Amino acid sequence: MNRRRKTAEELRSHRWYGVRDLRSFGHRSRTKQMGYADEEYRDKPVIGIINTWSDINPCHTHFRDRAEEVKRGVWQAGGFPVEMPAMSLSEPFQKPSTMLYRNLLAMETEELLRSYPMDGAVLLGGCDKTTPAMLMGAISMDLPTIFVPAGPMLRGNWRGRTLGSGSDVWKYWDEKRAGEIGEREWDEIEDGIARSPGHCMTMGTASTMTAATEALGMTLTGASSIPAADSNHSRMAATSGRRIVEMVWEDLKPSDILDERAYDDAVTAVLALGGSTNAAIHLIAMARRGGVPLDLDRFDALSRSVPVLANTRPSGEYLMEDFFYAGGLRGLLSRLKDRLNLDRPTVGGRTLGEDLEGADVYDDAVIHPVDDPLHEEAGLAILRGNLAPDGCVIKHSAADPGLLQHTGPAVVFDGYEDLDRRVNDPALEVDEGSVLVLRGAGPLGAPGMPEWGLLQIPEKLLKKGVRDMVRISDARMSGTAYGTCVLHVAPESHVGGTLALVRDGDLIELDVPGRRLELHVSEAELEHRRKEWSPPQSHYGRGYGAMYMGHITQANEGCDFDFLEAGPPVKEPEIH
Ligand code: FES
Repeated sequence: MNRRRKTAEELRSHRWYGVRDLRSFGHRSRTKQMGYADEEYRDKPVIGIINTWSDINPCHTHFRDRAEEVKRGVWQAGGFPVEMPAMSLSEPFQKPSTMLYRNLLAMETEELLRSYPMDGAVLLGGCDKTTPAMLMGAISMDLPTIFVPAGPMLRGNWRGRTLGSGSDVWKYWDEKRAGEIGEREWDEIEDGIARSPGHCMTMGTASTMTAATEALGMTLTGASSIPAADSNHSRMAATSGRRIVEMVWEDLKPSDILDERAYDDAVTAVLALGGSTNAAIHLIAMARRGGVPLDLDRFDALSRSVPVLANTRPSGEYLMEDFFYAGGLRGLLSRLKDRLNLDRPTVGGRTLGEDLEGADVYDDAVIHPVDDPLHEEAGLAILRGNLAPDGCVIKHSAADPGLLQHTGPAVVFDGYEDLDRRVNDPALEVDEGSVLVLRGAGPLGAPGMPEWGLLQIPEKLLKKGVRDMVRISDARMSGTAYGTCVLHVAPESHVGGTLALVRDGDLIELDVPGRRLELHVSEAELEHRRKEWSPPQSHYGRGYGAMYMGHITQANEGCDFDFLEAGPPVKEPEIH
């Protein structure tokens, strides 16, 4: 691609460093205070390395090293690297949910880039929400940006058996509750399931979103599949550092890369991976930041024709380390070439088609051929009906096929505490045909739309051997989880969606092939219940939470803050 190269005077940082006035004297003298001579930063692209390393984020423990490797590349290419810490969003620890804070990290990313003399950005993220959050901020700021994904951790291991993040936790927890393994085995699983840096190594939200980011064209080709502990990962980081400097001179920005075709390719990749349902929220939020049309119907339309090729947990058998050895995302995309937009640009400075030259698959058991897919139709379906007029999501590739068309009586729980208190009560009126309903778990209701959508099976049914049931909520579900779970019901119950009106014993019909979710209660009765319903109190009276409650959008709109979506350009800061 031939793009006009910027001159040093056209660099954004020139306004801080290059002019001769009182303020720029301060910028230069203070840079010298940090030990840098004039020739080390003057007339060079300043690269902000946004680092989500933290002592409490196990998925990002290697990011101090990776930041140094990115810096090495930036120096080599003639740039000036500046590392800036940003909120870490550690999935296992942050309460009530990292989703509550995704937009805060997005705002932090955008404003760090805006308020400092940055010409370009390298984003270090990977643990679940960090990827969409940083990209949303970078899309809004629209400086040349490259994403360095954390990479998956190595396979877990227990008594010679492979363990996958999340998926095997749910599996063995149910085994333990059913009395099939004891405390000693459970402790050993705890020792063996997470044993290296890197994000969850199943096809959960982290693996899904970093792969989607590569498919969008926002990472170097092949970057998202490299395990965090592999030396290829360090080299990818250094190469990203070299490349971002060139991207600044070329002025290659997210808005040059992220068009409708890019999002179609990202959705196609997510579907072929059997990726996380969370991608439907995050990709819509990212697209809306850039003013690109993308909605749930586009996911559903593509899902009807894209086959699942990746045999990875929770939909399949293998883990991300196996996926990398089998050819990784490059291998998978090479099998989908006729469905992709190969002539669009990526951060590498070439087209997607050029990026995929030489890509191959080395193990058909891990990445299936198109004519022998894991599933003919992609694993994600969008359902609508009177229970979800604005849509909801099910990952049916990870569900019991026998439950995909099912009608049963509702057993309703009002929030997580109610679920926790009653679900294992032997007196609960429930059987395997019941439909478990959780409400008060959406973006506003919980708040923060936590991953409560994998409602636990009542213990008395587990003991009878029941391992899956139809479950419906306005929550999200971990991308590593599995089961017949209908998620993201919109509008959520907190704002008076039909979910708020369901009562115990109401019949609910799930019809995944027909893409329907219906509450079999007459409109007159629903109207009567609607009049009796009163909205719950807001969770927060002040602080970030109050801002969140005032501006969060619903799941089908991406759960962004309404004032952060695409709009008029934000004024550049004055330098005085
Ligand atoms: Fe970080 Fe799963 S806990 S990706």
